[in-house]
Amino acid sequence: MKAIQVGLLGIGTVGLGTFSVLQRNQEEIQRRAGRGIEIAMVAVRDVARARSIVGPDVKVVNDARAVIANPEIDIVVELIGGCGVAKQLVLEAIAAGKHVVTANKALLAVHGTEIFSAACAKGVMVAFEAAVAGGIPIIKALREGLTANRIQWIAGIINGTTNFILSEMREKGLDFEVVLKEAQRLGYAEADPTFDIEGVDAGHKVTLMSAIAFGIPVQFDKAYVEGITKLGAADIRYAEQLGYRIKLLGITKRTPKGIELRVHPSLVPAKRLLANVEGAMNAVVVNGDAVGTTLYYGKGAGSEPSASAVVADLVDITRLHTADPLHRVPHLAFQPDALTNLPVLPMSEVVTSYYLRLRVADQTGVLAQVTGILASAGISIDAVLQREADEVGGEGSTQTDVIILTHDAREGTMNEAIARLQALPTVLAPIVRIRKEELAG
Ligand code: HSE
Repeated sequence: MKAIQVGLLGIGTVGLGTFSVLQRNQEEIQRRAGRGIEIAMVAVRDVARARSIVGPDVKVVNDARAVIANPEIDIVVELIGGCGVAKQLVLEAIAAGKHVVTANKALLAVHGTEIFSAACAKGVMVAFEAAVAGGIPIIKALREGLTANRIQWIAGIINGTTNFILSEMREKGLDFEVVLKEAQRLGYAEADPTFDIEGVDAGHKVTLMSAIAFGIPVQFDKAYVEGITKLGAADIRYAEQLGYRIKLLGITKRTPKGIELRVHPSLVPAKRLLANVEGAMNAVVVNGDAVGTTLYYGKGAGSEPSASAVVADLVDITRLHTADPLHRVPHLAFQPDALTNLPVLPMSEVVTSYYLRLRVADQTGVLAQVTGILASAGISIDAVLQREADEVGGEGSTQTDVIILTHDAREGTMNEAIARLQALPTVLAPIVRIRKEELAG
């Protein structure tokens, strides 16, 4: 049987990885897929450079629409990224009856509803394993491997750049800005790292996982997203003294009121496997009612790890593209007419526990005032750590850090309590609040 013909839009890091993995493993891939998979055409800006890489058998053009219009092409792989031209090209490829493989998490997290419904109407697949956690087959696991389960929650380290930065901050005791510069120098962080360090990239990924886990539409606009730019080395140190590590987690959880969908730095007990995922690695924990807690670990980015996911999608499509579209695995795991409208909760309704750090004047009664405010808000304290006072300022005035771990509280209640604490004249600096996740089964 003739090999499936693939057209790449873009041939950067992931495209090159896809090209070499398909070439290197072509015999095994063919034995798995039932027929060969060939990259037949590539659209790039720098045609001469691409030609020197892919050789004479691949047609190289500088017009992505020439790939989409080519009737020989069965699958279009979109590796351009972003929500601009990539969105237009993906919709055009679908309209032309092509299956699409993409690593574009931003596109699907923001415009997924439009794209998946266009694909359903046309009977084509849009596969996106590489969009979440790179080489870890988490989409496959959530959509198929765990299909028996009512999924309860997912918590993941799904951004390698920020995990690398947090690991370095903890190991070397350095502040965020210093480590970011070093990460950029080593190529672990982009020249413009905004999407990574502000939590947006992780927000896109957790939005996709949430949709697949709970059968809700993709709705990145409802996700709460907070990055790591305000974290200080002191908080990482205090967390460690209390038995925790700080990780940027993407969390989505089913609650009786609705779905939590959030990204923010979190204290995680140091004994959890997730807390020990270091450097640029990714890991996702999924809790399902039947299976219990499961953990998926691996490289979340990079040429061949991402290619591993892209090629897996190509094999899936190769096996299924002649199947009746109604018999394929749905894009978001649930049948498109069976999605639920469970609300995504506003952050004020999220219930979690907290780490608070207050810089206070070392005076009689300060701790009583602080604990009094928390008690009157109904917030229960789990642990308190007070450092020895430092002498600062004139006339022997001293200050100290008070660190409080709380039990579960509603975020809205905690916001009000923090506002009252902040107004105390003895609280001398902005209060640091970091959420805490026990991640118990
Ligand atoms: N920039 C991402 C990361 C990889 O640092 O994990 C691509 O999503």
